Amino acid sequence: VHATSVIDIIRKTRDGVQLSPAEIEQIISGYVAGDVPESQIAAWLMAVVLRGLSSTETALLTSAMLHSGNQLDLSSFRSKKVDKHSTGAVGFKTSLVVAPIVAAAGLIVPMISGRSLGFTIGTLDKLESIAGLRVDLSVQEIEVALSKCGCVIVGANDEIVPADRKLFALRDLTGTVESAPLICASILSKKMAESIDGLVLEVVGGSGALMKSEKDAVSLAELMVQVGTELGVYTIAVVVAANEPLGKSIGSALEVKEAISTLKGEGPDDVRHLCIELAAWMFVAARVVETVAAGRELAETVLDGGKALATFREMVAAQGGDVRIVDEPDCLPRSTHQTSFSSAADGYVTSIASDRIGQAARILHVNATGATAGTKPDPAAGIVLNKKVGDHVAVGEPLYTIHWNSQDSLSYAQRVLSESYSVGNTPPAPSPALVLSVVR
Ligand code: URA
Repeated sequence: VHATSVIDIIRKTRDGVQLSPAEIEQIISGYVAGDVPESQIAAWLMAVVLRGLSSTETALLTSAMLHSGNQLDLSSFRSKKVDKHSTGAVGFKTSLVVAPIVAAAGLIVPMISGRSLGFTIGTLDKLESIAGLRVDLSVQEIEVALSKCGCVIVGANDEIVPADRKLFALRDLTGTVESAPLICASILSKKMAESIDGLVLEVVGGSGALMKSEKDAVSLAELMVQVGTELGVYTIAVVVAANEPLGKSIGSALEVKEAISTLKGEGPDDVRHLCIELAAWMFVAARVVETVAAGRELAETVLDGGKALATFREMVAAQGGDVRIVDEPDCLPRSTHQTSFSSAADGYVTSIASDRIGQAARILHVNATGATAGTKPDPAAGIVLNKKVGDHVAVGEPLYTIHWNSQDSLSYAQRVLSESYSVGNTPPAPSPALVLSVVR
């Protein structure tokens, strides 16, 4: 077989020329084997960001990434297997809530999740704020955990989708995160490795998401439904608006705490609402209910009956985490300092710049201990929104509170956040629905 040189592959994508299946396979397997250097992959990723890939190339890329490792074999589980994955947005912690809801209803949720990317904090980083909890389970450990509680939330590793593990970290360092084909292949390669019957994609659009507009979110949703279906999984995409952060907490431990509140029935309304919608569509995707209305009812029953909380506790235990945090969330890491920022005016919050909140949270997250690349993120740092869009605020009342450990990261966050809130005299029009549309 004539092997095209990697430089030719980069040039082709740069010039908008379609790659063959063999070329896509070559670049991915070469990278995973260590034969293609990061410099060349980084250049190719940037070419993809700027020129795009066709949906055929995207499906081939997804498949090449999937086959860089093994797939889970869950044939010994008789229940339906289903999962959900988000394209990511500021404050979105729904995975931590929906995996236990759906497993508590008797399904299997083998969730392979992601790390922080761009200004979004990854589900794995959030979970690791729980002392002892491991996300690097082997295939065998995943199966044991699933037999105990029906769900796990783990990362890609050397056995499962190694290509995504490597590409994910590289994209985060090279400004190559925001690309529909790369997001599609990253997410679907992980999901296809799970051997699931059904999949729900939470495709988020808005200033707090990787896709900045509803239009871009809808095209990404359509692409992912097409590729997922082609690869043999019943795929449904729920398009969600991210015009302000979801819930009130942004930051690893802060978001785990809010997810636990939601599982206890005490969380913010928007978080609860979206988790029920996503779980409902997961039941539809797994074909255990016929309508989304029946799915909602099932989700509410397991959530309000406390079964989802019990399953979350079991999942934390199965992954080696300290389960005390379920009853005593104050056992989660807490920052040494909290500084609130007050409104200079009376009025109503008319908008919150989610991208600024996300940027500040990510810096607090990685830099709070003055850390450089490669060091552990700070699980305690983050931002709590005391007011959300539409809330009334009086002069001197806090708008948001920064949880911080290092003066440097506080100063940075203060600068980024200084114009993140707009306060006006009249209340804004009611926010449009969180779920914009469903693509299936
Ligand atoms: N989540 C992923 O797993 N990958 C992406 O590229 C974006 C969000």
